[in-house]
Amino acid sequence: MDEPIVVGIDIGTTKICTLVARVEGEHNLRILGVGIEPSQGIKKGTIVDLAAASQSIARSVEKAQRTSGLEITSALVSLAGANVASVNSRGVVGITGGVIDEEDVARALESAQAVAIPHNREIIHVIQRGFIVDGQDGIRSPVGMHGYRLEVEAHIITASASTVENLRQCVQAAGVEVSQFVLNPLASAEVVLSETERQMGVVVCDIGGGTTDLAIYIDGDIWHTMVLAVGGNHITSDIAHGLRLSLPQAEDIKKANGHAVEAEIGEEEAFTVRAFGEERPMQVSRKELAHIIEARVEEVFELVLQEIKRSGYDGLLPAGMVLTGGSSQLPGMRALASQTMGLPVRVARPENLVGLIDQLNSPAFSTSVGLLYWALLMSETVPVHHSRGSRKGGGSSMDLEKLKEFLKRLLP
Ligand SMILES: Nc1ncnc2c1ncn2[C@@H]1O[C@H](COP(=O)(O)OP(=O)(O)OP(=O)(O)O)[C@@H](O)[C@H]1O
Ligand SMILES: [Mg+2]
Repeated sequence: MDEPIVVGIDIGTTKICTLVARVEGEHNLRILGVGIEPSQGIKKGTIVDLAAASQSIARSVEKAQRTSGLEITSALVSLAGANVASVNSRGVVGITGGVIDEEDVARALESAQAVAIPHNREIIHVIQRGFIVDGQDGIRSPVGMHGYRLEVEAHIITASASTVENLRQCVQAAGVEVSQFVLNPLASAEVVLSETERQMGVVVCDIGGGTTDLAIYIDGDIWHTMVLAVGGNHITSDIAHGLRLSLPQAEDIKKANGHAVEAEIGEEEAFTVRAFGEERPMQVSRKELAHIIEARVEEVFELVLQEIKRSGYDGLLPAGMVLTGGSSQLPGMRALASQTMGLPVRVARPENLVGLIDQLNSPAFSTSVGLLYWALLMSETVPVHHSRGSRKGGGSSMDLEKLKEFLKRLLP
Protein backbone atom coordinates (compact mmCIF):
# COMPACT_ATOMS: atom_id res chain seq x y z
CA MET A 1 0.00 0.00 0.00
CA ASP A 2 2.66 2.56 -0.75
CA GLU A 3 1.61 3.57 -4.25
CA PRO A 4 0.71 7.22 -4.44
CA ILE A 5 -2.90 8.28 -4.08
CA VAL A 6 -4.67 11.02 -6.02
CA VAL A 7 -7.87 12.71 -4.89
CA GLY A 8 -10.25 14.99 -6.78
CA ILE A 9 -13.42 16.80 -5.78
CA ASP A 10 -15.61 17.85 -8.70
CA ILE A 11 -17.97 20.51 -7.41
CA GLY A 12 -20.70 20.66 -10.02
CA THR A 13 -24.00 22.50 -10.14
CA THR A 14 -25.99 19.26 -9.86
CA LYS A 15 -23.61 16.82 -8.18
CA ILE A 16 -20.45 16.71 -6.14
CA CYS A 17 -18.15 13.83 -6.92
CA THR A 18 -15.14 12.94 -4.78
CA LEU A 19 -12.85 10.29 -6.22
CA VAL A 20 -9.85 8.57 -4.68
CA ALA A 21 -7.52 6.56 -6.89
CA ARG A 22 -4.27 4.72 -6.60
CA VAL A 23 -1.64 5.40 -9.22
CA GLU A 24 -0.53 2.09 -10.70
CA GLY A 25 2.43 2.10 -13.00
CA GLU A 26 2.98 5.42 -14.71
CA HIS A 27 -0.37 6.36 -16.12
CA ASN A 28 -2.92 3.96 -14.72
CA LEU A 29 -5.44 4.75 -12.06
CA ARG A 30 -7.42 2.36 -9.95
CA ILE A 31 -10.50 4.00 -8.47
CA LEU A 32 -10.64 3.12 -4.77
CA GLY A 33 -13.23 5.52 -3.43
CA VAL A 34 -16.30 7.20 -4.89
CA GLY A 35 -18.58 9.74 -3.23
CA ILE A 36 -21.37 11.13 -5.38
CA GLU A 37 -23.82 13.50 -3.72
CA PRO A 38 -26.43 15.92 -5.07
CA SER A 39 -24.98 19.39 -4.72
CA GLN A 40 -26.58 22.13 -2.72
CA GLY A 41 -25.76 25.80 -2.46
CA ILE A 42 -24.15 25.95 -5.92
CA LYS A 43 -25.56 27.78 -8.91
CA LYS A 44 -23.95 28.02 -12.35
CA GLY A 45 -20.74 26.63 -10.93
CA THR A 46 -20.48 29.22 -8.14
CA ILE A 47 -21.14 28.92 -4.39
CA VAL A 48 -24.31 30.75 -3.36
CA ASP A 49 -24.75 29.18 0.09
CA LEU A 50 -21.52 28.41 1.97
CA ALA A 51 -23.03 26.18 4.65
CA ALA A 52 -25.18 24.11 2.30
CA ALA A 53 -22.36 23.70 -0.20
CA SER A 54 -19.90 22.74 2.48
CA GLN A 55 -22.26 20.14 3.90
CA SER A 56 -22.77 18.48 0.55
CA ILE A 57 -19.01 18.51 -0.07
CA ALA A 58 -18.49 16.91 3.35
CA ARG A 59 -21.04 14.18 2.57
CA SER A 60 -19.37 13.40 -0.72
CA VAL A 61 -15.90 13.30 0.90
CA GLU A 62 -17.22 11.11 3.69
CA LYS A 63 -18.62 8.59 1.19
CA ALA A 64 -15.35 8.47 -0.72
CA GLN A 65 -13.47 7.93 2.55
CA ARG A 66 -15.80 5.15 3.53
CA THR A 67 -15.57 3.32 0.20
CA SER A 68 -11.78 3.67 0.00
CA GLY A 69 -10.97 3.25 3.67
CA LEU A 70 -8.55 6.16 3.30
CA GLU A 71 -8.56 9.50 5.02
CA ILE A 72 -8.83 12.43 2.63
CA THR A 73 -6.79 15.43 3.71
CA SER A 74 -6.14 17.26 0.48
CA ALA A 75 -7.52 17.23 -3.04
CA LEU A 76 -7.57 18.88 -6.42
CA VAL A 77 -10.82 20.77 -6.82
CA SER A 78 -12.68 21.71 -9.99
CA LEU A 79 -13.43 25.33 -10.72
CA ALA A 80 -15.95 26.85 -13.13
CA GLY A 81 -18.41 29.68 -13.19
CA ALA A 82 -18.86 33.04 -14.79
CA ASN A 83 -15.98 34.51 -12.84
CA VAL A 84 -13.29 32.72 -14.77
CA ALA A 85 -11.37 34.49 -17.52
CA SER A 86 -8.35 33.71 -19.64
CA VAL A 87 -5.73 35.67 -21.54
CA ASN A 88 -2.78 34.76 -23.68
CA SER A 89 0.35 36.57 -22.74
CA ARG A 90 4.04 36.64 -23.60
CA GLY A 91 6.93 36.85 -21.16
CA VAL A 92 10.43 37.91 -22.15
CA VAL A 93 13.73 37.62 -20.26
CA GLY A 94 17.40 38.08 -21.08
CA ILE A 95 19.74 35.13 -20.56
CA THR A 96 22.98 36.09 -18.86
CA GLY A 97 24.90 32.81 -18.86
CA GLY A 98 24.28 32.09 -22.55
CA VAL A 99 22.64 28.76 -21.68
CA ILE A 100 18.98 28.60 -20.66
CA ASP A 101 18.23 26.90 -17.35
CA GLU A 102 15.04 26.14 -15.41
CA GLU A 103 15.29 29.38 -13.50
CA ASP A 104 15.26 31.37 -16.75
CA VAL A 105 12.13 29.53 -17.83
CA ALA A 106 10.51 30.28 -14.48
CA ARG A 107 11.44 33.96 -14.80
CA ALA A 108 9.99 34.09 -18.32
CA LEU A 109 6.75 32.57 -17.09
CA GLU A 110 6.68 34.98 -14.21
CA SER A 111 7.11 37.90 -16.54
CA ALA A 112 4.23 36.57 -18.67
CA GLN A 113 2.09 36.92 -15.56
CA ALA A 114 2.92 40.57 -15.28
CA VAL A 115 0.00 41.31 -17.64
CA ALA A 116 -2.42 43.62 -15.93
CA ILE A 117 -4.29 41.33 -13.59
CA PRO A 118 -6.51 43.28 -11.21
CA HIS A 119 -6.09 42.77 -7.47
CA ASN A 120 -9.48 41.15 -7.12
CA ARG A 121 -8.46 38.27 -9.39
CA GLU A 122 -6.44 35.20 -8.57
CA ILE A 123 -4.27 33.30 -11.04
CA ILE A 124 -5.42 29.69 -11.33
CA HIS A 125 -3.27 28.34 -14.14
CA VAL A 126 -0.22 29.58 -16.02
CA ILE A 127 0.13 27.23 -18.95
CA GLN A 128 3.19 27.40 -21.17
CA ARG A 129 2.32 27.06 -24.85
CA GLY A 130 5.71 27.30 -26.46
CA PHE A 131 9.01 29.14 -26.33
CA ILE A 132 10.91 31.48 -28.61
CA VAL A 133 14.71 31.58 -28.30
CA ASP A 134 16.46 34.51 -30.02
CA GLY A 135 13.48 34.94 -32.35
CA GLN A 136 13.16 31.28 -33.27
CA ASP A 137 9.70 30.02 -32.37
CA GLY A 138 8.15 26.58 -31.98
CA ILE A 139 10.54 25.50 -29.23
CA ARG A 140 8.98 23.11 -26.74
CA SER A 141 11.75 22.65 -24.21
CA PRO A 142 14.38 25.39 -24.11
CA VAL A 143 16.34 24.20 -21.05
CA GLY A 144 19.94 23.57 -22.05
CA MET A 145 19.74 25.61 -25.27
CA HIS A 146 22.06 28.48 -26.09
CA GLY A 147 20.50 31.88 -26.43
CA TYR A 148 20.35 35.46 -25.19
CA ARG A 149 16.65 36.15 -25.23
CA LEU A 150 13.94 33.76 -24.04
CA GLU A 151 10.27 34.39 -24.72
CA VAL A 152 7.38 32.24 -23.51
CA GLU A 153 3.82 32.14 -24.80
CA ALA A 154 1.54 31.52 -21.83
CA HIS A 155 -2.16 30.98 -21.35
CA ILE A 156 -3.19 32.53 -18.05
CA ILE A 157 -6.45 31.64 -16.36
CA THR A 158 -7.75 33.84 -13.58
CA ALA A 159 -10.83 33.77 -11.39
CA SER A 160 -12.48 36.21 -9.06
CA ALA A 161 -10.49 36.07 -5.83
CA SER A 162 -13.60 36.05 -3.68
CA THR A 163 -15.19 33.18 -5.65
CA VAL A 164 -12.00 31.16 -5.23
CA GLU A 165 -11.77 32.01 -1.54
CA ASN A 166 -15.38 30.94 -0.93
CA LEU A 167 -14.79 27.66 -2.65
CA ARG A 168 -11.57 27.07 -0.70
CA GLN A 169 -13.39 27.80 2.56
CA CYS A 170 -16.20 25.40 1.72
CA VAL A 171 -13.78 22.59 0.99
CA GLN A 172 -11.72 23.40 4.10
CA ALA A 173 -14.84 23.35 6.22
CA ALA A 174 -15.39 19.83 4.93
CA GLY A 175 -11.94 18.97 6.37
CA VAL A 176 -9.96 19.00 3.12
CA GLU A 177 -7.18 21.31 1.93
CA VAL A 178 -7.29 22.39 -1.71
CA SER A 179 -3.94 21.40 -3.18
CA GLN A 180 -4.85 23.01 -6.49
CA PHE A 181 -7.84 24.32 -8.39
CA VAL A 182 -8.33 23.01 -11.91
CA LEU A 183 -10.56 24.67 -14.44
CA ASN A 184 -13.40 22.29 -15.42
CA PRO A 185 -12.72 22.01 -19.16
CA LEU A 186 -9.01 21.33 -18.57
CA ALA A 187 -9.88 18.42 -16.31
CA SER A 188 -12.43 17.04 -18.79
CA ALA A 189 -9.95 17.38 -21.65
CA GLU A 190 -7.45 15.13 -19.84
CA VAL A 191 -10.01 12.34 -20.07
CA VAL A 192 -11.76 12.77 -23.39
CA LEU A 193 -9.18 14.12 -25.85
CA SER A 194 -6.72 11.99 -27.76
CA GLU A 195 -3.20 13.25 -28.40
CA THR A 196 -3.91 13.29 -32.15
CA GLU A 197 -6.94 15.53 -31.65
CA ARG A 198 -4.92 17.94 -29.52
CA GLN A 199 -2.25 18.13 -32.16
CA MET A 200 -4.74 18.63 -34.99
CA GLY A 201 -6.84 21.27 -33.26
CA VAL A 202 -9.98 20.45 -31.27
CA VAL A 203 -12.47 22.03 -28.89
CA VAL A 204 -13.73 20.16 -25.85
CA CYS A 205 -17.23 21.17 -24.75
CA ASP A 206 -18.52 19.92 -21.37
CA ILE A 207 -22.23 20.68 -20.98
CA GLY A 208 -23.18 20.07 -17.36
CA GLY A 209 -26.15 21.26 -15.33
CA GLY A 210 -25.28 24.91 -14.84
CA THR A 211 -22.29 25.57 -17.08
CA THR A 212 -20.89 24.83 -20.50
CA ASP A 213 -17.11 24.59 -20.31
CA LEU A 214 -14.89 25.03 -23.35
CA ALA A 215 -11.20 24.51 -24.05
CA ILE A 216 -9.45 24.81 -27.40
CA TYR A 217 -6.31 22.76 -28.05
CA ILE A 218 -4.06 23.41 -31.04
CA ASP A 219 -0.62 21.92 -31.73
CA GLY A 220 -0.96 19.95 -28.52
CA ASP A 221 -1.36 23.00 -26.30
CA ILE A 222 -4.22 24.87 -24.62
CA TRP A 223 -5.00 28.02 -26.58
CA HIS A 224 -8.30 29.19 -25.20
CA THR A 225 -10.64 28.41 -22.30
CA MET A 226 -14.10 29.66 -21.45
CA VAL A 227 -16.95 28.88 -19.08
CA LEU A 228 -20.48 29.83 -20.20
CA ALA A 229 -23.26 30.06 -17.63
CA VAL A 230 -25.76 27.82 -19.44
CA GLY A 231 -26.40 24.11 -19.14
CA GLY A 232 -28.90 21.29 -18.77
CA ASN A 233 -30.76 23.06 -15.96
CA HIS A 234 -31.87 25.67 -18.49
CA ILE A 235 -33.31 22.95 -20.70
CA THR A 236 -35.17 21.56 -17.70
CA SER A 237 -36.60 24.92 -16.71
CA ASP A 238 -37.73 25.59 -20.31
CA ILE A 239 -39.57 22.26 -20.23
CA ALA A 240 -41.11 23.11 -16.85
CA HIS A 241 -42.37 26.45 -18.16
CA GLY A 242 -43.44 25.18 -21.54
CA LEU A 243 -45.40 22.21 -20.25
CA ARG A 244 -46.41 23.66 -16.86
CA LEU A 245 -44.59 21.00 -14.85
CA SER A 246 -42.56 21.08 -11.66
CA LEU A 247 -38.77 21.13 -12.11
CA PRO A 248 -38.28 17.53 -10.87
CA GLN A 249 -41.01 16.35 -13.27
CA ALA A 250 -39.46 18.26 -16.14
CA GLU A 251 -36.04 16.77 -15.29
CA ASP A 252 -37.49 13.25 -15.32
CA ILE A 253 -39.29 13.58 -18.63
CA LYS A 254 -36.24 15.23 -20.19
CA LYS A 255 -34.17 12.17 -19.33
CA ALA A 256 -36.86 9.66 -20.24
CA ASN A 257 -38.32 11.22 -23.39
CA GLY A 258 -36.11 14.10 -24.41
CA HIS A 259 -34.52 14.55 -27.83
CA ALA A 260 -32.59 17.52 -29.18
CA VAL A 261 -33.79 17.22 -32.78
CA GLU A 262 -37.51 17.75 -33.31
CA ALA A 263 -37.43 16.44 -36.88
CA GLU A 264 -36.28 13.05 -35.61
CA ILE A 265 -39.50 12.46 -33.67
CA GLY A 266 -42.67 11.03 -35.22
CA GLU A 267 -45.99 12.96 -34.97
CA GLU A 268 -47.69 10.12 -33.11
CA GLU A 269 -45.07 9.68 -30.34
CA ALA A 270 -46.43 10.73 -26.95
CA PHE A 271 -46.07 10.18 -23.22
CA THR A 272 -48.26 10.95 -20.21
CA VAL A 273 -47.52 13.26 -17.30
CA ARG A 274 -49.56 14.88 -14.54
CA ALA A 275 -49.19 18.65 -14.82
CA PHE A 276 -49.23 21.19 -11.96
CA GLY A 277 -52.68 21.44 -10.35
CA GLU A 278 -54.22 19.01 -12.84
CA GLU A 279 -56.26 16.05 -11.61
CA ARG A 280 -55.69 13.75 -14.51
CA PRO A 281 -52.52 12.91 -16.35
CA MET A 282 -52.17 14.60 -19.72
CA GLN A 283 -50.74 13.35 -22.97
CA VAL A 284 -47.76 15.27 -24.28
CA SER A 285 -46.38 14.89 -27.77
CA ARG A 286 -42.67 14.03 -27.81
CA LYS A 287 -42.33 16.33 -30.78
CA GLU A 288 -43.49 19.26 -28.64
CA LEU A 289 -40.95 18.31 -25.97
CA ALA A 290 -38.19 18.05 -28.58
CA HIS A 291 -39.23 21.44 -29.97
CA ILE A 292 -38.63 23.06 -26.56
CA ILE A 293 -35.32 21.26 -26.07
CA GLU A 294 -34.04 21.96 -29.56
CA ALA A 295 -34.60 25.70 -29.22
CA ARG A 296 -32.48 25.87 -26.06
CA VAL A 297 -29.77 23.49 -27.19
CA GLU A 298 -29.40 25.33 -30.47
CA GLU A 299 -28.98 28.55 -28.51
CA VAL A 300 -26.27 26.95 -26.37
CA PHE A 301 -24.37 25.78 -29.45
CA GLU A 302 -24.74 29.18 -31.07
CA LEU A 303 -23.17 30.74 -27.96
CA VAL A 304 -20.40 28.17 -28.15
CA LEU A 305 -19.82 28.97 -31.81
CA GLN A 306 -19.75 32.70 -31.06
CA GLU A 307 -17.17 32.07 -28.38
CA ILE A 308 -15.02 29.98 -30.70
CA LYS A 309 -15.21 32.68 -33.36
CA ARG A 310 -14.36 35.37 -30.83
CA SER A 311 -11.25 33.41 -29.86
CA GLY A 312 -10.12 33.66 -33.49
CA TYR A 313 -9.32 29.93 -33.72
CA ASP A 314 -12.45 28.82 -35.57
CA GLY A 315 -10.59 27.85 -38.72
CA LEU A 316 -8.04 25.80 -36.81
CA LEU A 317 -10.13 22.92 -35.52
CA PRO A 318 -9.99 20.07 -38.05
CA ALA A 319 -10.56 17.50 -35.30
CA GLY A 320 -13.82 19.29 -34.53
CA MET A 321 -15.57 19.12 -31.18
CA VAL A 322 -15.57 16.56 -28.42
CA LEU A 323 -18.78 16.81 -26.42
CA THR A 324 -19.06 15.59 -22.86
CA GLY A 325 -20.83 16.42 -19.57
CA GLY A 326 -24.17 15.05 -18.34
CA SER A 327 -26.21 16.93 -20.93
CA SER A 328 -24.31 15.37 -23.82
CA GLN A 329 -26.35 12.22 -23.09
CA LEU A 330 -29.46 13.79 -24.56
CA PRO A 331 -30.22 11.97 -27.83
CA GLY A 332 -29.65 14.16 -30.87
CA MET A 333 -27.00 16.37 -29.21
CA ARG A 334 -24.21 15.20 -31.45
CA ALA A 335 -26.14 15.80 -34.66
CA LEU A 336 -27.41 19.21 -33.57
CA ALA A 337 -23.95 20.31 -32.46
CA SER A 338 -22.41 19.22 -35.73
CA GLN A 339 -25.12 20.95 -37.75
CA THR A 340 -25.02 24.21 -35.75
CA MET A 341 -21.27 24.42 -35.71
CA GLY A 342 -20.29 22.91 -39.02
CA LEU A 343 -17.71 20.73 -37.25
CA PRO A 344 -17.29 17.00 -36.81
CA VAL A 345 -18.54 16.11 -33.32
CA ARG A 346 -18.18 13.05 -31.11
CA VAL A 347 -19.53 12.38 -27.62
CA ALA A 348 -17.00 11.09 -25.09
CA ARG A 349 -16.90 9.66 -21.58
CA PRO A 350 -14.22 8.33 -19.23
CA GLU A 351 -12.93 5.01 -20.51
CA ASN A 352 -10.39 2.36 -19.56
CA LEU A 353 -10.87 2.86 -15.84
CA VAL A 354 -10.35 0.12 -13.33
CA GLY A 355 -11.66 -0.32 -9.80
CA LEU A 356 -14.93 1.10 -8.52
CA ILE A 357 -16.13 2.37 -11.86
CA ASP A 358 -19.78 1.32 -12.18
CA GLN A 359 -21.17 4.83 -12.06
CA LEU A 360 -18.23 6.66 -13.61
CA ASN A 361 -18.42 5.56 -17.17
CA SER A 362 -20.83 8.38 -18.08
CA PRO A 363 -20.03 11.73 -19.74
CA ALA A 364 -21.21 13.39 -16.50
CA PHE A 365 -17.98 12.25 -14.82
CA SER A 366 -15.41 13.48 -17.31
CA THR A 367 -14.41 16.43 -15.10
CA SER A 368 -14.39 14.25 -11.95
CA VAL A 369 -12.09 11.63 -13.48
CA GLY A 370 -10.10 14.33 -15.27
CA LEU A 371 -9.09 15.83 -11.92
CA LEU A 372 -7.33 12.58 -11.08
CA TYR A 373 -5.42 12.61 -14.36
CA TRP A 374 -4.54 16.25 -13.77
CA ALA A 375 -3.22 15.28 -10.34
CA LEU A 376 -1.12 12.61 -11.99
CA LEU A 377 0.22 15.12 -14.49
CA MET A 378 1.13 17.57 -11.74
CA SER A 379 2.38 14.85 -9.39
CA GLU A 380 -0.12 16.08 -6.81
CA THR A 381 -0.18 12.78 -5.00
CA VAL A 382 -0.90 12.28 -1.33
CA PRO A 383 0.82 9.68 0.86
CA VAL A 384 -1.74 7.10 1.93
CA HIS A 385 -1.77 7.69 5.64
CA HIS A 386 -1.33 11.39 5.45
CA SER A 387 -2.00 13.19 8.71
CA ARG A 388 -4.61 15.89 8.71
CA GLY A 389 -3.79 19.50 8.00
CA SER A 390 -0.08 19.43 7.24
CA ARG A 391 -0.44 20.13 3.52
CA LYS A 392 -0.92 23.71 2.62
CA GLY A 393 -3.30 24.75 -0.12
CA GLY A 394 -1.25 26.98 -2.34
CA GLY A 395 -1.46 25.63 -5.86
CA SER A 396 -2.52 28.97 -7.15
CA SER A 397 0.06 31.20 -5.55
CA MET A 398 2.57 31.32 -8.36
CA ASP A 399 5.76 32.41 -6.66
CA LEU A 400 9.17 31.65 -8.13
CA GLU A 401 9.81 28.55 -6.04
CA LYS A 402 6.44 27.10 -6.89
CA LEU A 403 6.96 27.87 -10.54
CA LYS A 404 10.32 26.16 -10.60
CA GLU A 405 8.80 23.10 -8.98
CA PHE A 406 5.93 23.21 -11.47
CA LEU A 407 8.37 23.37 -14.37
CA LYS A 408 10.54 20.55 -13.15
CA ARG A 409 7.49 18.34 -13.19
CA LEU A 410 6.49 19.24 -16.71
CA LEU A 411 9.85 19.36 -18.40
CA PRO A 412 11.34 16.10 -19.63
N1 LIG B 1 -29.89 11.05 -19.89
C1 LIG B 1 -29.86 12.37 -19.85
N2 LIG B 1 -30.49 13.10 -20.79
C2 LIG B 1 -30.47 14.42 -20.76
N3 LIG B 1 -29.86 15.17 -19.83
C3 LIG B 1 -29.22 14.49 -18.86
C4 LIG B 1 -29.18 13.09 -18.81
N4 LIG B 1 -28.47 12.72 -17.72
C5 LIG B 1 -28.08 13.86 -17.13
N5 LIG B 1 -28.53 14.92 -17.80
C6 LIG B 1 -28.36 16.33 -17.46
O1 LIG B 1 -27.01 16.58 -17.22
C7 LIG B 1 -26.90 17.66 -16.30
C8 LIG B 1 -25.88 17.34 -15.24
O2 LIG B 1 -24.65 17.13 -15.86
P1 LIG B 1 -23.29 17.09 -15.03
O3 LIG B 1 -23.39 16.04 -14.00
O4 LIG B 1 -22.20 17.02 -16.03
O5 LIG B 1 -23.36 18.53 -14.36
P2 LIG B 1 -22.55 19.14 -13.12
O6 LIG B 1 -21.14 18.72 -13.24
O7 LIG B 1 -23.24 18.82 -11.85
O8 LIG B 1 -22.74 20.69 -13.37
P3 LIG B 1 -21.74 21.82 -13.92
O9 LIG B 1 -20.53 21.15 -14.45
O10 LIG B 1 -22.54 22.49 -14.98
O11 LIG B 1 -21.52 22.71 -12.75
C9 LIG B 1 -28.27 17.92 -15.72
O12 LIG B 1 -28.81 19.08 -16.27
C10 LIG B 1 -29.06 16.69 -16.18
O13 LIG B 1 -30.40 17.02 -16.44
MG1 LIG C 1 -19.44 19.44 -14.26
